[in-house]
Amino acid sequence: MMVGVIGVGIMGSNLARCLSGKGVELGLYNRTRSRAEKVAGEVGARVYDSPSRLLGDSDAVVVFVSDDYALRSIAMNVSRQKYGGEKVFLNASTVTPMASLEAKSIVEESGVVYVEAPVYGSAGEARECRLISIIACNKEEYSKALRVTSLYSAESIYVGEPPRAMAVKLALNNIGLAIPALLAESLMILESWGASIDSFLEIARKLWFGKAVERYWGRIAEEHPPRFRLAMAGKDYWYIASALKAKNLPSTLADALSTLYYTAATHGGYGGKDYPQVARFYLELARKSKH
Ligand SMILES: NC(=O)c1ccc[n+]([C@@H]2O[C@H](COP(=O)([O-])OP(=O)(O)OC[C@H]3O[C@@H](n4cnc5c(N)ncnc54)[C@H](OP(=O)(O)O)[C@@H]3O)[C@@H](O)[C@H]2O)c1
Repeated sequence: MMVGVIGVGIMGSNLARCLSGKGVELGLYNRTRSRAEKVAGEVGARVYDSPSRLLGDSDAVVVFVSDDYALRSIAMNVSRQKYGGEKVFLNASTVTPMASLEAKSIVEESGVVYVEAPVYGSAGEARECRLISIIACNKEEYSKALRVTSLYSAESIYVGEPPRAMAVKLALNNIGLAIPALLAESLMILESWGASIDSFLEIARKLWFGKAVERYWGRIAEEHPPRFRLAMAGKDYWYIASALKAKNLPSTLADALSTLYYTAATHGGYGGKDYPQVARFYLELARKSKH
């Protein structure tokens, strides 16, 4: 089986490392070609000039791009030609349910099977082939999807037809990405009222949410290379809000959290940092406001 990886950022590059470690024949496409060349040199893959050429030579492509706009442009490129055989387009990017359905209809015009396959887990899990893949596709196509996702996933969970996997992924991120945002506001309270962060941490560790605080405090206190960029957290909340608005439902918390993350990205220049660093931006704000 030949697998193509489209988008070799944090997730796609680590997926390529996982697949090459399993001896899978690999092709890569990235909008910025030099990035793909760097990864290809490391994993021994061929670099392609377009998503359609890569899909033409592959049995399946796994797409890990930033957002709705990027997914649409990949789908449009793929739809420029017809393909022989049963090719599979797995979208692992986190996008809105609306964009996923649009990509599905564009890709399927070329006779390609569209599978929603967003993942839980980050760079380390991708590199070690232990992501959790959430799958939505026509039930008859599930075995084709599983042949690919089982290469890089500890578990693949079928949740029905698209866009249900995207709804599940956004619902999970809505909870996971909230913790650093809540910590950011907690740290502002402490700092602005002269209370001790150490005392807060000491007490938090004894409480039921202590593990969550502990987990993120490590990623706040020390700066590490980003596993998930802060701007992407803003994007995810924007998409959670859009998915609710598309159903005429209130999106109060998602709107607030997307503003919280985007403020740190745009006003603080934190967009490229690891997303728990959001708390550091607000802590700095509280420090400055005291002077
Ligand atoms: N990082 C995580 O922990 C994680 C976990 C689960 C899911 N995800 C999701 O996986 C996706 C990728 O995340 P990531 O962390 O790997 O992001 P990333 O490092 O920022 O990589 C983004 C990729 O998208 C490409 N891209 C951006 N705009 C594009 C466009 N208009 N057309 C074509 N390609 C475009 C970029 O190409 P260039 O190199 O040319 O900029 C790059 O290859 C996102 O949807 C994210 O939400 C991430």
